Amino acid sequence: MNKVFCLEDGWERLIHEIASCTKCPLHLSRKNPVPGEGDVNSPVLIVGEAPGKTEDETGRPFVGAAGQFLTELLYSIGVDRSKVYITNVIKCRPPENRDPTDEEIAACSPYLIRQIKLLKPKAIIALGRHSARYLYQLAGLKWTNMTREHGKVKSVEILGLRVKLVATYHPASALYNPGLREEIEKDFKGSIKQVVEEAFGKQAEGLLKYMKK
Ligand code: URA
Repeated sequence: MNKVFCLEDGWERLIHEIASCTKCPLHLSRKNPVPGEGDVNSPVLIVGEAPGKTEDETGRPFVGAAGQFLTELLYSIGVDRSKVYITNVIKCRPPENRDPTDEEIAACSPYLIRQIKLLKPKAIIALGRHSARYLYQLAGLKWTNMTREHGKVKSVEILGLRVKLVATYHPASALYNPGLREEIEKDFKGSIKQVVEEAFGKQAEGLLKYMKK
């Protein structure tokens, strides 16, 4: 049965709670919280780290340069970004785009947990080491480092859901680094494409608007 975007199913309440959240000091410097966006019926969840400047200004995830690259990476595997759900571990921008602290992740991650429970994704793509480390931990896996883990498909249980989890480099770090760019593009065209197509299953033809030959 299709999930409906209404107060009863929790999405709207969650967005309101994030909008008024004061659980960590990031609320003092944010312009806008960035809860996430996309299809709340999607079987695919993309999890980045934290909003940057453009995201803070617009309240939307992955809309700056890294977001443009993510949109292209998704397009390269035949997926329109509106067909997945995109969010971050941290919903407010850390000043000067610094790394999120463990305290901020601890304060904010219950929102991500609620998003996972609402969405019930079949595939989760973790972008960047903070996101990957958090999701590996949630799945009971030991995180090592991105060089070793990127592109690997992990069949795991997260919050009672059977999920395929794949970590890859953060699009921002790969943007201006040709070596990493090649790696992230390979991950998308390889294991990420595979788990995304598998997650969409029979819906694929209707949902993957720009599928390439
Ligand atoms: N980087 C992230 O991790 N998330 C965004 O939303 C934008 C940039």
